Amino acid sequence: MSQSAPHKALTASDIRARKGGDPLVCLTAYTTPVARIADAECDVVLVGDSVGMVLHGLPSTLPVTLDMMILHGQAVARGLDRALMVVDMPFGSYEESPAQAMRNAVRIMAETGAGAVKLEGGTHMAGTIRFLSDRGIPVMAHIGLTPQAVNAIGGYRVQGKGEDASRILEDARAVAEAGAFSVVLEKVPAALADRITADLSIPTIGIGASAGCDGQILVIDDMLGLFDDFRPKFVKRYAQLARDARDAVRAYAVEVRARDFPAPAHVFADEGAD
Ligand code: KIV
Repeated sequence: MSQSAPHKALTASDIRARKGGDPLVCLTAYTTPVARIADAECDVVLVGDSVGMVLHGLPSTLPVTLDMMILHGQAVARGLDRALMVVDMPFGSYEESPAQAMRNAVRIMAETGAGAVKLEGGTHMAGTIRFLSDRGIPVMAHIGLTPQAVNAIGGYRVQGKGEDASRILEDARAVAEAGAFSVVLEKVPAALADRITADLSIPTIGIGASAGCDGQILVIDDMLGLFDDFRPKFVKRYAQLARDARDAVRAYAVEVRARDFPAPAHVFADEGAD
C-alpha cells in the first residue's frame, strides 16, 4: 500500500454489504501504475490470472504459477489505497484439497497483503470455499465460464444456456452457502445472471453476464483497447491504446530518422541546470 493512504481500504465485508446497492466497479490490474489508475474509481481490483495471457503472452491461464500471482499482487498492492485487492489462485494451486488451498491462499495473503482470494468452481469447490472462509480467508467465487477448465468445457463458450441453467444456479447457491463473499458470473445468459442475482444474498459480479448484476468486472487491457486481435462481444472499448501507442511509436521513429528528436529542449548544455 502507498504511504499516503487518504481513504480506508475496503474489505471483503464492505463489498458483501453492497449487495443490492450501488453497482460495484471492478477491474483487473497487474502493475503498480495501472493499479493507481484503477484505484481512483474501483471498489475491487483483481490481480487476475489473466495476467498470463495479457502480460506474458501465454496461450491460456493454465501455465500461470503461484509465484507469478504473488509478484504481480505485490506490484498492485503498491498502487492501491482504497480498493479491495483480490488475487486469483492459479490453476493447480487449490483443487487438490482444502489443505492445499489453505496453504497457498495463506501465502498469497501474507506475501501480497491481498484482502481476499478468488478461485474458480461451483458445487465441487464449495467444501474448499467453506474451509477457507471458516479460517479467515475471504473468497470470491467464479462460476459460469471458468477459464482454468477450458479443456474440460470445450472452449470459451457461454455457460448455462437452456436446461444447463439449473447447473449454474446450483453452483451459485453452493458457493454462497459455503461462505463466498461475492461471486463472479462469467459468460452466462443475461436472464440467468439476473435470476442468480435475485436469488443470492451475496453480490454477483458480471463479466459477459448482465447489467443487473451487483457489479461488473473487465480485464483492464481489454477495455483500454490494448489488443487489436481480441474483441469478445462482452468487452466494450473505452479507449484505443493500441492504436495510440502505434501512432506514438511511428511518430518517434520518423523524428529519430529525421534527426528531429532529440530537439534542443531534450538535450543538456555544457553549463547551467540539468
Ligand atoms: O483472471 C481474470 O482476469 C478474471 C476476470 C476476468 C474475472 O478472472
